[in-house]
Amino acid sequence: MSAPHPPDLLIENLAELATPLGTTSRRGAEQGAIRRITDAEILCRDGAIAFAGPRAERERRFGALDGVLRLDGARGTATPGFVDAHTHLPWAGSREDELFRRLAGESYQAIAAGGGGILSTVRATREAEAGEILGGTLGRLGWMLASGTTTAETKSGYGLSVADEVKQLTVIRDAARAQPVELVPTLLAAHEVPAEYRGSEASRARYVDLVCEEIVPRVAEEKLAVFCDVFCEKGVFSAAESRRVLEAGKRYGLLPRLHADEFADSGGARLAAELGAFSADHLMAISPGGIDALAATEGKVTALLLPGTSFFLAKRVYAPARRLISAGVPVALATDCNPGSSYTESLPTIAQLAVFELGLSVEEALTALTLNAACSLGLGAAIGSLEEGKQADVVVHAAPNLRHLAYHYGVNPVRSVVKRGREVYRAGNLVAGAAGFGGPGRPDSAGSARAATAGSS
Ligand code: NIG
Ligand code: FE
Repeated sequence: MSAPHPPDLLIENLAELATPLGTTSRRGAEQGAIRRITDAEILCRDGAIAFAGPRAERERRFGALDGVLRLDGARGTATPGFVDAHTHLPWAGSREDELFRRLAGESYQAIAAGGGGILSTVRATREAEAGEILGGTLGRLGWMLASGTTTAETKSGYGLSVADEVKQLTVIRDAARAQPVELVPTLLAAHEVPAEYRGSEASRARYVDLVCEEIVPRVAEEKLAVFCDVFCEKGVFSAAESRRVLEAGKRYGLLPRLHADEFADSGGARLAAELGAFSADHLMAISPGGIDALAATEGKVTALLLPGTSFFLAKRVYAPARRLISAGVPVALATDCNPGSSYTESLPTIAQLAVFELGLSVEEALTALTLNAACSLGLGAAIGSLEEGKQADVVVHAAPNLRHLAYHYGVNPVRSVVKRGREVYRAGNLVAGAAGFGGPGRPDSAGSARAATAGSS
């Protein structure tokens, strides 16, 4: 049974509306082509956008709209709901100790070689009950929604056995039903070779067999994933092993995407191009040949950049975003939210890193967080821009224009989130009795709070 349609909702009093346009990924100069409209409104009807444009035009076409629900944009800026196209949400445990070891000089790879890293989260996630993993996942999704994310891809990869990968993907399915962020599930059984298969080259090969011959078919049969991913990296899975896994996925209807060239050029970008993957992710160490290979796909493969990982690993090495854009590769951005290499749910933070560290313009960053990210998930026809007929997924920012996404840093600018035409999150709710102290988007009330305090003393 499908959910009843919400009543019409008019998002009004917007200082600006900013959106990319279209249903396919934007590349080259088009990556920064953003439609910006002042004094805008958005009409949501039956969960879709019935109008997005200037207020005067809305009044001409739709009249007074008496009786519709209204959402006060408070002179803020509306953008499409953010799409986080690379996350690892279902996990248990914590790796905060590793952050401080890295800050003291140890490398991510050295920590992993000593039994930490991905395998430490695998141990904790295998031991945990599904309910505990679900609780943590829902908490992360709450932060994501509050940060403007309305759709997220999310992966398994901390199970590394048939039962444990199925357990993680089942948690994703349950989480999708329990809260408003729409989830796109990915099988990442080839995230690491589990401890019990590490004895020899032969046992390692048996793990790749297990992934291809048992985990992929089982997950496909239970319809628990849309995509199949692999960590193609020197010391993890080679390009040849990655090809095997992704081809097995394809045979069972799981679409390919991959972790590629994160720490070393491992042929990941070339493999993504060869297989027609939806995305090649990370790319901190992509080679010029890898860039050429992605460019030759003419927009089919999206470069999905994860600057939060560069930041959090304190490597001070960022993916060559400008070279990718110049070469005509569509660029998208994601958090890579995970307990080891990037513990953040905030795409506004990623936008700031993209502008300051990757050299994207704020307009290019918006496309990367919305339309290009949606296209990397095969969802460009449904989401990723504010246009008539698309799903009504909207973020209202407490900001007078799009540029504040980069300018006003270190705060969460999100004021309201609308999913399928329904307001599902609003910031700045005051605790009863605390009125007068303001909140996001209400600078005036902070002033009146001060005035009231001064008056009463
Ligand atoms: O995307 N690179 C591999 N996988 C994750 C890290 C996962 C972890 O450290 O737990 C990533 O960075
Ligand atoms: Fe990742």
